[in-house]
Amino acid sequence: MRLLLLFSLCLLPRFSSAQGSTPDSVMRWFGDAKLGIFIHWGIYAVNGIDESWSFFNHYLSYADYMAQAEGFTASAYDPQAWGDLIDSAGARYAVLTTKHHDGVALWDSEAGPLNVAKRTPAGCDLVGPFVKALRERDLRVGLYYSHCDWSHPDYPIHTRQIRRYDITEEPARWQRFLGFHRAQLDELMTRYQPDLFWFDGDWEQTAEAWQAADLRAWLKARQPDLILNSRLTGYGDYATPEQGPPVTRPEAPYWELCLTMNDSWGYQRNDHNYKTPYQLIRIFADCISMGGNLLLDIGPRADGSIPPEQVTTLQQLGRWTHKHAEAIYHTRAGLPPEHFYGPTTLSADSSTLFLFLPHPPQGPIVIKGLKNRINRIRVVGQGTKLDHQVLSRVYWSEYPGLCYITVPAYTHDPDMTVIAVQLDGPVRLFRE
Ligand code: GLC
Repeated sequence: MRLLLLFSLCLLPRFSSAQGSTPDSVMRWFGDAKLGIFIHWGIYAVNGIDESWSFFNHYLSYADYMAQAEGFTASAYDPQAWGDLIDSAGARYAVLTTKHHDGVALWDSEAGPLNVAKRTPAGCDLVGPFVKALRERDLRVGLYYSHCDWSHPDYPIHTRQIRRYDITEEPARWQRFLGFHRAQLDELMTRYQPDLFWFDGDWEQTAEAWQAADLRAWLKARQPDLILNSRLTGYGDYATPEQGPPVTRPEAPYWELCLTMNDSWGYQRNDHNYKTPYQLIRIFADCISMGGNLLLDIGPRADGSIPPEQVTTLQQLGRWTHKHAEAIYHTRAGLPPEHFYGPTTLSADSSTLFLFLPHPPQGPIVIKGLKNRINRIRVVGQGTKLDHQVLSRVYWSEYPGLCYITVPAYTHDPDMTVIAVQLDGPVRLFRE
């Protein structure tokens, strides 16, 4: 009974554990959205090299890195097409790099001179049209913003080897940087009213130095329903594991795996190491099964076109997400893994259990320790009604038996089949 209670408690809506305690009602859209698209777009796409890190790590000089600005044309930038692609992939939000660690702003910032409007042939604000395209499609708007700015003369660090100054020795200079930082965030808030800030680059300074608590309060006072990722030295709303799909369920009530499609965040023409749509679908199913989101990255070219491999992958992902929408969006984390060999999710009221089949089964699939009666089983997006058989149930024990379901080959999805098990009420599990 205690275990049952514990499990039911896990299913209740919870509050974010971050220092800020953003209410669940604000986090809800994020928890329901499941899939977001991350976009790394900047001058680094010109040569097709690592964003910011390539000069930070001295793989090329700062001057050569910045010379890429001359080739950043955005001449084929089509935010409407970007919006369509994001929408067709089944994403419910997107996050655009408005400024990476290199300090090059993607909007016509008035807080400083280093932006694509002033310094590149693109010559205009690139963030606004994107925000508009998302809003027109009812997609939520996330803005990536790097706290650290390796180009700014008042930021203490320039590269791995070059330190400009020590903030304890020149506090006024650091304050000047913070003023610039706040001015840029003010511009982004005023102009675009994002739903979410995806911060990055907090690790070089302490929470005190960033005035993180105050920054959080300032942002939330301006827009109470604004969501902040974790990269604000602990003052964010949700965790952001990067690249590594979690093996065990993260403890954070809200989290999002950010993941590249190949091995690069930005466009790199020599990186062909793409994950297949099937591999991405498996990772995505694991994320939602463990109560998280996937933020899948694309890297447009310097002219704003999206590489064809990335377009195709998003379209194939979209085929699967649209077909299986009811098992994805607005669901909750599924069963503890002992109950089913594969990812699972639960409907918001936890009375429908969705089973994801990463492999075509060689025999009937099995659910262990399910106490509910089953009203109906069907193949999601395909409709076939399936039979089940309960074995090993004994009248003198609480043990509910093993539930076998046969899934005929003709119902299988080419990527991953999903089965909906409609229960007689909220899921109840036997865990002794
Ligand atoms: C890291 C990197 C950065 C990348 C980001 C995405 O923090 O510094 O290059 O944009 O992760 O999560």
